Amino acid sequence: MSGSQLNKETREAWEDNAEIWDKRMGDEGNDFFNILCWPTLASFLDPNPGDHILDIACGNGLTARRLAELEAQVTAFDFSSKLIEYAKNRTSNLRSLISYHVLDATNESQLLAILQPLAPFDSALSNMALFDMADIEPLFRALPKLLKPRGGFVFSITHPCFNNASGMHVVEEMDDGEIKTVYSVKVSRYMTTYSARGLALRNQPKPQIYFERPLQYYLNLGFQNGFVLDGFEERAFPPNAPQATPLGWGGKFSEIPAVIVARLRLRS
Ligand SMILES: C[S@@+](CC[C@H](N)C(=O)[O-])C[C@H]1O[C@@H](n2cnc3c(N)ncnc32)[C@H](O)[C@@H]1O
Repeated sequence: MSGSQLNKETREAWEDNAEIWDKRMGDEGNDFFNILCWPTLASFLDPNPGDHILDIACGNGLTARRLAELEAQVTAFDFSSKLIEYAKNRTSNLRSLISYHVLDATNESQLLAILQPLAPFDSALSNMALFDMADIEPLFRALPKLLKPRGGFVFSITHPCFNNASGMHVVEEMDDGEIKTVYSVKVSRYMTTYSARGLALRNQPKPQIYFERPLQYYLNLGFQNGFVLDGFEERAFPPNAPQATPLGWGGKFSEIPAVIVARLRLRS
């Protein structure tokens, strides 16, 4: 399937899943967001009141609203027009701080046409979305033209090594003088970029497409476009974190990071 067909199918899946995504994430977010992503995103962004932040692939506006609550000015976009409608409906009391746009991050000329007149941004954020994009190179090329000198791009993604579409969650029992239950993740693919259908939410109407890339792909793309890496955390659930399903991500997998959060910063 060509890149543009994959992008079209991806957008259709997000339009079909928009309602259930909005219901599930609501205004509060889920454990992945609240335990793994947001604490590090907030500390890496550390916005001053009035900072202008670009929220890339904002979904139902969860992070845009969190940033506005910190008194940042937010320009947020997503390519799902339904998700942008849900985002607007949830934003009545923060309207003056957030503007929403329907925009495709895989289209560099569209990004520049809409966002350059609003630039420069102090920083940019993408929470758990780069692996949902059919092509991230146009976005990485556009960001240096949208950010202020030394502006930061903070993103979270599922950990490419341990939490990719090939991963299987395994439980085993061993006799170590006492009987121990061991939880692990078995991964059979990592180095090659590939796309695979998967579910972000167990009962979503349509599988979405995940675009798996090794860590070096993300970092090298940043370096090639003028960024350096100046913040990096691997995020695992603490042992006492809730376990929504017996083998889902949660406290049983506390030694295995499900997410990484990184900050790239423009060299000048
Ligand atoms: C897992 S959701 C995360 C949403 C949001 N960042 C959050 O934290 O709740 C991924 C989002 O990426 C969006 N997306 C995927 N490809 C995109 C693209 N090419 N351009 C803009 N948005 C895209 C989807 O519509 C979806 O809202």
